[in-house]
Amino acid sequence: MKFFVDTADIAEIRDLAETGMVDGVTTNPSLVAKSGRDFFEVLRDICAIVPGPVSAEVAATDSKAMIEEGLRLSEVAGNIAVKVPLTWDGLKACRTLSGRGLMVNVTLCFSANQALLAAKAGATFVSPFVGRLDDAGHEGMELIEEIRTIYDNYDALATEILVASVRNPVHVRDAALIGADVVTLPPAVLRALAAHPLTDKGLAAFLADWKKTGQEILR
Ligand code: G3P
Repeated sequence: MKFFVDTADIAEIRDLAETGMVDGVTTNPSLVAKSGRDFFEVLRDICAIVPGPVSAEVAATDSKAMIEEGLRLSEVAGNIAVKVPLTWDGLKACRTLSGRGLMVNVTLCFSANQALLAAKAGATFVSPFVGRLDDAGHEGMELIEEIRTIYDNYDALATEILVASVRNPVHVRDAALIGADVVTLPPAVLRALAAHPLTDKGLAAFLADWKKTGQEILR
């Protein structure tokens, strides 16, 4: 399963990229606004750090303008994935942009039927928002199971399930158990994946016992 980082914070991306665990990046208008930086400068900086897909979302709501914006965004770098919302205009723009060989991430997906439409429109990725479904009292991971089942029923549906709106390591584990293709993680969630109190406790005990030997490996 691929790990994308869900942020426009360059320092975070650079730090996490050094772990070798960052397969791509997703941004959205809220994350770009939070960065306080020029959109195109942020995208250029991200694409220079991460060779994998970097999602950049259009701001237009009609398909013609979405296509124009998507083409403009794709000029930033070859690894830009144009992000469009799951609306009929977004699906039409997805069809055109994917038809021109661009990666397209169809975002704001909240139902299996929406995900089916995204795949039929030729999306590279579909982004179901599990955290926001949980927040609304639904079972976000059930949607991932439904999409996985539907996509696996048809060889023609090649869209990758990019689990988004991830809130915690349980979402990551469950996405992997279901067989999602990608999770996009807030930096804090990615960092939390490696943490376990028994690991810390066990390492401290090993080091204390090693110190008692008085030996050094690099002597
Ligand atoms: O960037 C898409 C998605 O991951 C945003 O999720 O719910 O944390 O804003 P959220």
